Amino acid sequence: MTRTDLAVVGAGPIGLAIAWRCAIRGLRVEVHDPAPGSGASAVAAGMLSPVAEAYFGERQLTELLVASAARWPGFAAELTEASGTEIGYRTEGTLMVGLTGDDLAEARRLWAYQQGLGLPVTPLRPSELRDREPALAPRVRGGALAPTDHQVDPRLLVPALRTAARRAGAVLVPQPVRRLSDVDAGVTVVAAGCGAAALTGLPVRPVKGQILRLRAPGGVAPGFRHVIRGYADGEHVYLVPRADGEVVLGATVEERSDTTVTAGAVQRLLRAGVDLLPELTEYDLVEAVAGLRPGTPDNAPILGPLPGRPAVLAATGHHRHGIVLTPITAETIADLVTTGEPDPLLAPFGADRFAVASTGTGDATRVGAGDRSGPGRTTEEDRWS
Ligand code: GLY
Repeated sequence: MTRTDLAVVGAGPIGLAIAWRCAIRGLRVEVHDPAPGSGASAVAAGMLSPVAEAYFGERQLTELLVASAARWPGFAAELTEASGTEIGYRTEGTLMVGLTGDDLAEARRLWAYQQGLGLPVTPLRPSELRDREPALAPRVRGGALAPTDHQVDPRLLVPALRTAARRAGAVLVPQPVRRLSDVDAGVTVVAAGCGAAALTGLPVRPVKGQILRLRAPGGVAPGFRHVIRGYADGEHVYLVPRADGEVVLGATVEERSDTTVTAGAVQRLLRAGVDLLPELTEYDLVEAVAGLRPGTPDNAPILGPLPGRPAVLAATGHHRHGIVLTPITAETIADLVTTGEPDPLLAPFGADRFAVASTGTGDATRVGAGDRSGPGRTTEEDRWS
């Protein structure tokens, strides 16, 4: 077998984008995955929301999200060109709304924090909110606009990345990688989402999310254009409209590793969604599904070499932000692979911030405990579903 330059383990958006960026730099690249795009991205809504998802206590993570979102317009244009397919990139912006007075008070506290970071959040009067989205329920008490928070369709993104990577010369190997020692490559990138834990010993844990897909009747576009993130009677939901009539309504955040869909979660999501946008009662319910986000002890990604193993790089643990972080992950990891020099942006996100035990053969012996002082520390105030 000829030793390839780069092996990427995992063909989700992160792994495919790394493969694409490295292949166009002239590396021989193999991507190992028996089921490309079947992980978290198959369920993801595709929000590119560094502003609406800037939470208390996550400042360094927010900086990375903002930097990656800024790369999305160029990344989307280049990918559309390279693949010859549309990826559903839309720029109408995100409306953040509160249904009740209590919801609005909670939301305003977060908006004030986001504004304090210098992020673009514009509070709107109720009349301005309704001018922008007349379909919002009259009960909605208030809102704010995050104009730079955009969206893309992950179910179009993954095939586009596959095509772009293949056209650039990357080869998909449709077999699973059970041990890193089975891979023969100059550099190996582990972009296997939740699967990274078993391969590397890194503390990546599954975080369950249940999500619904609805469809506007009659083949028309939904009656709203912005991504809407709503606080509704204490429930936190998002609604993502697609041009083909689809609306993604999500999501739960559960510290569980199963993918069952529960009646209670469907009920809560639908109730909150319909409270915010009453027209949803007329929509078809076309899918109820659960996926597993790859979380880490501080909920920020792990980007860079495994401790003591410079030829094995992690690109995992993106938790709720895999889609928005795809461009910056791909480009900084491609830089690291080709130059050996880490971008300073990666400094807070190294694997060495967690305790990792490894056999030295690429196979984990135990998962380190990690610490909670990293870039994406979670507090009670941080929760958003
Ligand atoms: N980023 C959306 C979610 O994780 O539900």
